Amino acid sequence: MTDNALDTPTATEPPKGDRVSAEAARRRTFAVISHPDAGKSTLTEALALHARAITEAGAIHGKAGRRSTVSDWMEMEKARGISITSTALQFPYRDCVINLLDTPGHADFSEDTYRVLTAVDCAVMLIDAAKGLEPQTLKLFQVCKHRGIPIITVVNKWDRPGRHALELMDEIHERIGLRTTPLTWPVGIAGDFQGVMDRRKGHFIRFTRTAGGATIAPEEHIPADAAHDAAGVDWDTAVEESELLSADGSDYDRETFLGGESSPVLFTSAALNFGVNQLLDVLVELAPAPSGALDVDGVRRAPNTPFSAFVFKVQAGMDSAHRDRIAYARVVSGTFERGDVLTHAATGKPFVTKYAQSVFGQQRSTLDDAWPGDVIGLANAAALRPGDTLYRDVPVVFPPIPSFSPEHFAVARGTDPSKHKQFRRGIEQLEQEGVVQVLRSDKRGEQAPVFAAVGPMQFEVAAHRMATELSAPISLESLPYQVARIVSPEDADFVNRQVSAEVLTRTDGVMLVLFSTPWRLEGFQRDNPNIKLGSLVAAEG
Ligand code: G4P
Repeated sequence: MTDNALDTPTATEPPKGDRVSAEAARRRTFAVISHPDAGKSTLTEALALHARAITEAGAIHGKAGRRSTVSDWMEMEKARGISITSTALQFPYRDCVINLLDTPGHADFSEDTYRVLTAVDCAVMLIDAAKGLEPQTLKLFQVCKHRGIPIITVVNKWDRPGRHALELMDEIHERIGLRTTPLTWPVGIAGDFQGVMDRRKGHFIRFTRTAGGATIAPEEHIPADAAHDAAGVDWDTAVEESELLSADGSDYDRETFLGGESSPVLFTSAALNFGVNQLLDVLVELAPAPSGALDVDGVRRAPNTPFSAFVFKVQAGMDSAHRDRIAYARVVSGTFERGDVLTHAATGKPFVTKYAQSVFGQQRSTLDDAWPGDVIGLANAAALRPGDTLYRDVPVVFPPIPSFSPEHFAVARGTDPSKHKQFRRGIEQLEQEGVVQVLRSDKRGEQAPVFAAVGPMQFEVAAHRMATELSAPISLESLPYQVARIVSPEDADFVNRQVSAEVLTRTDGVMLVLFSTPWRLEGFQRDNPNIKLGSLVAAEG
């Protein structure tokens, strides 16, 4: 969905650089990180509903009996009821344009999630009030921390029995060292969600349920001096706890928030649409706008410089009727207009953008322009791979997106010998898209490459795509390895001769040694202190 207000230039329009700065300043680009089931899809719906981008919850991520979602592109995905692919949602809210980058829910696709996190300026860490911090949230938090992404914490499902709010704040501080600075505080314990105290303004925001939570929940803003009459002792408790928080230094602090050391906290019930307005307001008021990005030489490409973007995701097979392949690029600087001819930094070749799209839930619409922070979907983008840079006029190359340390390995073999060429091409394509990493060795030969993945379901996707879309069915035989490290070509022969270790080469030339267990790796390192093995970016956080 494009923001029509941006479409037509007017006589009073400011010079281009100023306009780009102004458009960048009103972008908010973020993703939600959470453990499956914490309510990410429900919250996404609720945000779009409150921003009036949809009229009824259920339009984007269809649940039982509701409309199905654009991300249900694969039958396998439908059968499992999980969401594998990512979609970018864009909607205007107040004076801002919000870009919400969706991430796959299943832990096996965390590598995709990590790629999406390279394209956001902020993350919402969504926590189930009854469960607190869960494994997948912890992993993703570590990625955000590593990248210095500011985090807004949302404690969801407050309408259900759960933990004490202060206890949850302590858990976050103690386990991940993030200082919490609640902006709202619940009135009523978990399971009895009446509303929230706005800790900055001091008043009571009371929510009212709507049928099935399908529409925006009405809210009343009640001044502090009338709040006791409205909520009784629950209000008094909220005031007391809020005072405790202030005494403890848990008040909002911009500098530490932007530095990733403290996190504003909000309480919600995404299912009832409670507290969702407050989250949108916080995104608009406090979340950072795009500020450019560092290139490979560490030089910042500022938003008001000529167009540049990097591809953070390539997605194929969304529409089985025609084989399409969309590369999603995050705009770093400048303005983009459909039809622009860009340069693909990796090859130096021109890239024509006639088929630029934005994807909103089920609908894909043609995208006419985009500004820093926006995501463009480029169709027919066979040459683009995750991490690639596109630019116009002034050349730039952004750093590659790190590939993550695989933990699962399997040999792929074509099951139909006559499909030799399709096998080779299919594997090349899956690798380019980043579906799996592909490793080879002389010993195993071209016909038996090794797939490496962070989660085993990546293999299922690869096998499914090879069979249905790339016409080269494969069988996969798992290998008994669990860890991979980078090894230098000089040491490769020696390492390859070790028991329970095998050296293979990635297509980019990097040599990896696989070990059967972390203990084998440790033992090897202990016995061979002179051999330095390099780490890949760990998925284990
Ligand atoms: P996910 O994307 O993070 O995996 O979670 P999702 O939104 O699918 O939510 C998981 C389940 O939690 C859903 O229930 C959803 O309705 C419920 N849920 C989400 N937010 C809240 C909330 O604030 N309060 C309550 N009480 N429940 C919430 P389900 O039974 O799996 O699906 P459904 O039939 O309810 O849609």
